[in-house]
Amino acid sequence: MNILSIETSCDDTGIAILEVENSKFPPDQINLKANLVSSQIEVHREWGGIVPHLAKREHQKNLIPVLKKSFQEADLKTEPFDFDSQKMKTVEEILEREEKLLADLRQFLQETGRPDIEFISVTCGPGLPPALWTGVNLARALSYYWSIPLIGVNHLEGHLVAPWITIDDLPADIFPSIFVLVSGGHTQIINARDFGQYEVLGETRDDAAGECFDKTARLLGLPYPGGPEISREAARWNQLSNQEKAAQPEEIKKIEFPRPMINSDDYDLSFSGLKTAVLYAHRQQKQEIIDHQYYVPKMAAEIQKSIIDVIIKKGLKAAREINAQHIFLNGGVAANKLLREEFKRKARQEGFQLFVPPFQFCTDNAAMIGLAGFYHYLQEDRDSWSDLKVNSTLRL
Ligand code: KG4
Ligand code: ZN
Repeated sequence: MNILSIETSCDDTGIAILEVENSKFPPDQINLKANLVSSQIEVHREWGGIVPHLAKREHQKNLIPVLKKSFQEADLKTEPFDFDSQKMKTVEEILEREEKLLADLRQFLQETGRPDIEFISVTCGPGLPPALWTGVNLARALSYYWSIPLIGVNHLEGHLVAPWITIDDLPADIFPSIFVLVSGGHTQIINARDFGQYEVLGETRDDAAGECFDKTARLLGLPYPGGPEISREAARWNQLSNQEKAAQPEEIKKIEFPRPMINSDDYDLSFSGLKTAVLYAHRQQKQEIIDHQYYVPKMAAEIQKSIIDVIIKKGLKAAREINAQHIFLNGGVAANKLLREEFKRKARQEGFQLFVPPFQFCTDNAAMIGLAGFYHYLQEDRDSWSDLKVNSTLRL
């Protein structure tokens, strides 16, 4: 069966078409017929972060072109289907606040027959409300117009099933496992007892890990998104030999930041104190040091190390505590090479294997939403196009 999935919780417009082979979860085989992500980074970069109404505008603009392209890539069979102007009236009501999207959709529906799709899976939360609504309203309109079942999916559950999109090397005994989800919007340590059975053991009390990368990068004058920038700058410091490091000014060598809550008795994390520490250290620094070629690299290396240390320590503590089979790392921050390497190494030392999906399935994508939808499809969960709503603070 084919699954159409839509993801617009934040700043990526994602559409995927998955073909799954059998009716068990996880399926033995997944054929990713299309998995498209249209990034809005260039639009948000000049604001130094994501601007919700711009995210909505971009989703409105991108959704139908990306949908069209996904249909082409997947080479979907479509049934001849006369344009139904009566049904179109309800579609207009569903998309009354999405003018641009409605215009594109009308044209698309005139050109495209009813596709061979079993159900539509869409992210309904958590995320930015205006962004979420755009995707949900498109899914509702398509579900109604083509009479295709609709399933609203929790974005976080999408991240949790993401490792199974590329199933090949995953062991059979998965549960219980610890899932460490670190992105721009979320930082959670989750005990998964089975698919569908998740317990959030701990989470950030303030900023998400990715948000901390982004905000501290901005303090240092680095562009958005800050994670990759910090990681690149940090590598410039980390690649120096000990001798080269020793030859740098004292003010640079002594830069060091706290690791908030690293020894607390729970699984919660906190990153706003680190951000404040970076701000004060930066403000108090002499200009000649700020201008030094290794000032930003050393700051970045220390910021990165503080964030990584806390994530790994808490993740391992949780894995030990629940006697986990494995540890899974997901979310955009999993792109961080040092985090992956150190986490893998330290996990191995304690007898755990750390799994990290390929990067495109760590960041926001629609394939993971389609797969999470398949789980709910097998549970016979269904939503109705007339009732499905966004829940921007949805929890696992
Ligand atoms: O999962 P994601 O694409 O979007 C959501 O937030 O849901 O994650 C984006 C976050 C950003 O905060 C970005 O700075 C961070 O992931 N990120 C990184 C790296 N690449 C992306 N953080 C640290 N190191 C990286 N290499
Ligand atoms: Zn995400």
